[in-house]
Amino acid sequence: MTAAKDSFVSPKEHFSRHAHVKTLEDYRDLYQKSLNEPDAFWGEQAQRLTWFHPPEAIREVDAEQVDFSWFSGGKLNAAYNCVDRHARERPGKAAIIWAKNEPGEYQTITFRELQHHVGRVANVLKAHGVRKGDRVCIYLPMIPELAYTMLACARLGAVHSVVFAGFSSESLRERILDCGARVLVTANEGPRGPKAVPTKAIADEAVEGLTQVTSVLVVRRTSREVPMSEGRDFWLDVEMARHRGVCPAEWMDAEDPLFILYTSGSTGKPKGVLHTTGGYLVYAATTHHYVFDARPDDVHFCTADLGWVTGHSYLLYGPLINGTTTVLFESTPTYPDAGRLWQVVDDVKATVIYTAPTALRALIREGDAWVKKSSRKSLRLLGSVGEPINPEVWRWYHDVVGEGRNPIIDTWWQTETGGILISPLPGATPCKPGSATLPFFGVEPVLLDDEGRVIEGNGVSGNLCLARSWPGQARTLYGHHQRFVETYYSRFPNLYFTGDGCRRDEDGYYWITGRVDDVLNVSGHRLGTAEVESALVAHEAVAEAAVVGFPHDIKGTGVCAFVTVKPDWLETSTEQMVGALKEQVRHVIGPIATPDRVVVVNGLPKTRSGKILRRMLRKIASGETENLGDASTLADPAVLDELLTKGAPVR
Ligand code: WTA
Repeated sequence: MTAAKDSFVSPKEHFSRHAHVKTLEDYRDLYQKSLNEPDAFWGEQAQRLTWFHPPEAIREVDAEQVDFSWFSGGKLNAAYNCVDRHARERPGKAAIIWAKNEPGEYQTITFRELQHHVGRVANVLKAHGVRKGDRVCIYLPMIPELAYTMLACARLGAVHSVVFAGFSSESLRERILDCGARVLVTANEGPRGPKAVPTKAIADEAVEGLTQVTSVLVVRRTSREVPMSEGRDFWLDVEMARHRGVCPAEWMDAEDPLFILYTSGSTGKPKGVLHTTGGYLVYAATTHHYVFDARPDDVHFCTADLGWVTGHSYLLYGPLINGTTTVLFESTPTYPDAGRLWQVVDDVKATVIYTAPTALRALIREGDAWVKKSSRKSLRLLGSVGEPINPEVWRWYHDVVGEGRNPIIDTWWQTETGGILISPLPGATPCKPGSATLPFFGVEPVLLDDEGRVIEGNGVSGNLCLARSWPGQARTLYGHHQRFVETYYSRFPNLYFTGDGCRRDEDGYYWITGRVDDVLNVSGHRLGTAEVESALVAHEAVAEAAVVGFPHDIKGTGVCAFVTVKPDWLETSTEQMVGALKEQVRHVIGPIATPDRVVVVNGLPKTRSGKILRRMLRKIASGETENLGDASTLADPAVLDELLTKGAPVR
């Protein structure tokens, strides 16, 4: 991965000619302007939105107090911006194309229809007591009602918290409790590939005995009957039929919360990342415009689930603010076969696809024939997000999927950043496969060493931080501002710390090298090692657990758990124990967290002060055993032999 000059892939001329930003020089000029005159730059970008009352200030930043405010005094409504103004100007245009689980089944929802549905759901929520500032928890599969409900909350000024429908009942419960939601919106079940997730049953378990939750609204996705609790559970279709579609949009302050989204951190429970209205929307719209080089006739196919931030910013808010048709995909890239994504691209004539390296790696394994069965002529841009994209995978995306025609954008960002921070601009930036390239407008990356010294110049590596506020950044962790300050602004004072390691090469290009904290990026999903460990030790057999990541061909990072069991359980067969513990994590957190490997051992490597040497375990699980460190620091060096034998990677 050296930065040889010849590894540059130039922007495509046919693309650059019509792009919003046509050359690297134009990018650099605008970038300089965004840093030198941030108020002028962001004031202009704010015009992408319709404001009921214009902002009075652009930016008020107090990095020491960790207080950020953008566009203050401005009044606006997210749903009005995503729906109403387009419904007036282009009522018959497709807002959402829903690609259902079964291949070939689509439903188009125009802006006019979207306005109607959102208004009705908003009126239903209102009838169930939801008011401005209230939190509403949404646990839904990828169906239009998920988008309606998010926008309906925004319309009322309620704060949505979408929980990915692959999470367990315990995870859902924890999030409902943390955000204090009184209303939960869910579905009877969620078809997904050949199976169906029993969504309502999981939701029932989550709210069991919780008096806090007074209404559960249930979408009828399939004909499956589910138990309905009298006085608490209501079918959403029945409720919607009672209400009209007209619902006034609340005037929200720019700094009023728009949503909470939970994500994993290096310690403790998931964090409720809070985004506000004005800054987040300006940032989502601006990045969508430039990074995806958005066009009025785009069909934007973001394959992410709305339960993740990628879905929030680049399936829903960004595209809809810009009046773009967006695709809502209910199924998986491999159902019914590995050609599914490209089939959808052809069917809906997608112009942009935005997906994750983990999906691409899984598809590469199935062979190029699946791609070649489709035409993909409608595509003009290929996007990647969620984890580093291996240069070989980048090449495959470029050569096989794009047949060399389409620019690739490798976009780096996080739940906390609200939108893309480092990415090529497709008409302007020469790419290097594997590098997210250069910062977006207004973004100033800084690298620091572990002692907190800024590392200047090129050809260097360090901890990736951001030196200035950008409109889309999270403002706090819901109800835990001190934790927000500690997590992001304490390691390196006055700087936002991303938790990622990064290299800036000889050309000033950024290469994300992965997390430097105890967060694993498994198939593009964030998982805290501490979360998995607490799920494991909650099992009665487990004495201690230490969880580490290891390189995994498809997932990027796999999960490996080392455990010791309590004396009473020593007789249980390893096979049984491993199965039970995988099931335990699945049950407590959700299938995405299931360890790939559970290694039952007699002792974990600890220092004399009792600290588990996770770094040593990581090396063992990754097969990097030449340089294990000094075994003499171990309280009991005898544990090492067993760890090396049992923990070695399975080839
Ligand atoms: C990783 C997803 C390399 C990174 C939008 C980050 C990436 C974490 C990239 C955030 C990329 C995301 N290249 N790494 N293009 N995009 N990451 O919060 O480690 O789910 O900190 O947000 O994913 O994951 P999150």
